[in-house]
Amino acid sequence: MRIQEKAVTAEQQPTSQPQRIDRYVGQYAERAVGMVASEIRALFAVAARPEIVSLAGGSPYVAALPLDVVGGMVGKLVADHGAQALQYCTAQGDAGLRERICDVMALEEIKAHPDEIVVTVGSQQALDLLARIFVDPGDVVLVEAPSYVGALGAFASYQADIVHVAMDDDGLIPEALADAIRRTEASGRRAKFLYTVPNFHNPAGVTLAAARRHRILDICRRAGLLVVEDNPYGLLGFDGEPMRALRADDAEGVVYLGTFSKTFAAGVRVGWAVAPAAIREKLILAAESAVLCHSSFAQLTVREYLSTQSWREQIKDFRELYRERRDATLEALAGMMPPGCHWTRPAGGFYVWLRLPDGINAKAMLPRAISSRVAYVPGTGFYADGSGSQFARLCYSLPAPDRIAEGVRRLAAVIENEVQLLEDFGPAAGTR
Ligand SMILES: Cc1ncc(COP(=O)(O)O)c(C=O)c1O
Repeated sequence: MRIQEKAVTAEQQPTSQPQRIDRYVGQYAERAVGMVASEIRALFAVAARPEIVSLAGGSPYVAALPLDVVGGMVGKLVADHGAQALQYCTAQGDAGLRERICDVMALEEIKAHPDEIVVTVGSQQALDLLARIFVDPGDVVLVEAPSYVGALGAFASYQADIVHVAMDDDGLIPEALADAIRRTEASGRRAKFLYTVPNFHNPAGVTLAAARRHRILDICRRAGLLVVEDNPYGLLGFDGEPMRALRADDAEGVVYLGTFSKTFAAGVRVGWAVAPAAIREKLILAAESAVLCHSSFAQLTVREYLSTQSWREQIKDFRELYRERRDATLEALAGMMPPGCHWTRPAGGFYVWLRLPDGINAKAMLPRAISSRVAYVPGTGFYADGSGSQFARLCYSLPAPDRIAEGVRRLAAVIENEVQLLEDFGPAAGTR
């Protein structure tokens, strides 16, 4: 979501004038019509400036990795295994990497065989491939309210009808899920799958309570509804052991998605899917048609990292680092936010979901926040229907704790100002 502007040199200038009108506008496929740039994209270009405290993008703090060690490892990989690392491979992914992935998933009590895994370009590609093989235009996909913006984008690009299901502080509400399934069936349709982020949710920061997990699986099993369990943050919990994955209790009813973006490096773009056999075959075929195969170099880098480095220790270090940043965020919010603000208290991951006082619109407020040198993501991005304007996602993974405190201080002042404007001039003040 972070967008870097890059200077264009004279040599790179296009030779013809940029077209103001798209001459191909009538020729795009219907699914491309809905692909529009986010209206807040321009603001994010500004948010990347150093004077702004960005609580917006969801980037991991990769600078905490021992970069010199990783660099040496990559050099040795090319020297020792270059003929493999620089070659094509199978669309299912490197067998050695898939073995190591089984070790990672064992931490969440998943017992899987390497053959059950399909390597993907981050878990984002798995979302795209799943939508590609399951979604026809108008098909219903159930997602949490709010939901991960990249999943909404992937599903929308296949013209899914996205139906949100309510959450509370314990994650997805089983009764709301049962109700959404009933309503979908009553409308003469069947949902294709439930997409859920059970641990340290993006953007809501909540975790699906252990007591709810069996109920959710049970409801889906009875309805014949496939569960897509997206779990980028599961190993980044701040208290105790990782939660048992949904996939650990239902190998046939759950497609599990994992990624190395948050536990190693987002830039290697390596993730994976574990799926029942028939779905797995379709995923491999879809991946083949999309990219032939994934980067051997990236896959072998991760395989080498998992085989030769103390990756469990590194995850512990990441956990401590993010815990400190979470604490700084919660402390600053408690000390500085004006009355009427409420927020979640994440037990892991990267995000706090902030509810603004009644009448305050996070999207309308964003330009004023940027002027005050703080950025966040307005809640509207996390709802397919554009609701969520009273919410903001704060991401604490990247700024240092003192910068987080400063960012929250600036944000609190902006909110106070909005509340004052609303009191003085009513909704016409432009906050709605
Ligand atoms: C919930 C969730 N799913 C999927 C992704 C995609 O991650 P990647 O493609 O880097 O694995 C993200 C990234 O932030 C995420 O938060």
